[in-house]
Amino acid sequence: MAVSSQNEPYIKEPMEPMTESEKSIARNIFVSGTPCLKCHITGEPAHDAKAIAPNFLLAGQRLKPDWVFRWLLDPSQIAPGTAMPTGLFKKDGERWIVNLPNPPADVSNYHNDHARLLVRYMFLMTPDEQRRLLSASPAPATAPAAPQPQRVGRNGVRAPASQRSDRVGHHPARRPG
Ligand code: HEC
Repeated sequence: MAVSSQNEPYIKEPMEPMTESEKSIARNIFVSGTPCLKCHITGEPAHDAKAIAPNFLLAGQRLKPDWVFRWLLDPSQIAPGTAMPTGLFKKDGERWIVNLPNPPADVSNYHNDHARLLVRYMFLMTPDEQRRLLSASPAPATAPAAPQPQRVGRNGVRAPASQRSDRVGHHPARRPG
């Protein structure tokens, strides 16, 4: 901690709330190109059968925004061999934009940093928002040409995380009577 000048305990940075239009741009980025949810757990059993990556609902609890930003730009720089692709974003002047040949119009008209926008979106993720995303994602027609099913539970962190996330949003409302 001393070497990396990290404070303990870590005080969370407040996330700037998102406007409706920012949310909809972030959703579009999430579901375009290689959709983020293709690999990431959502808490929906049918979808999660093929998911190999942590649930975004946990990102805000476990991670720091600046780390996530760097992760998005080049995951293999941080975790060589990771199944998460590099090159999802490309540099445009001073900012990072989503690396798509034909991004949706509202995405190309958004002139701030796309990766920073996604960081805010992930840190403000809710179970409702995640379900909304999932229904917006085009269902993969065939089983995704997935990287060989990875043992992400190896370090003992991922598996429990996914089980925990399974429960998020799954508290059945008790019906009176
Ligand atoms: C091809 C699969 C794949 C895609 C597509 C993908 N990811 Fe990932 N992602 C992973 C894997 C696998 C990990 C876990 C790191 C590891 O174990 O290698 C991960 C980890 C992460 C993490 C760290 C999460 C944590 O709790 O540790 C974040 C944040 C993240 N991804 C964001 C995104 C975003 C945003 C997108 C879309 C722009 C995306 N990912 C697309 C596979 C993917």
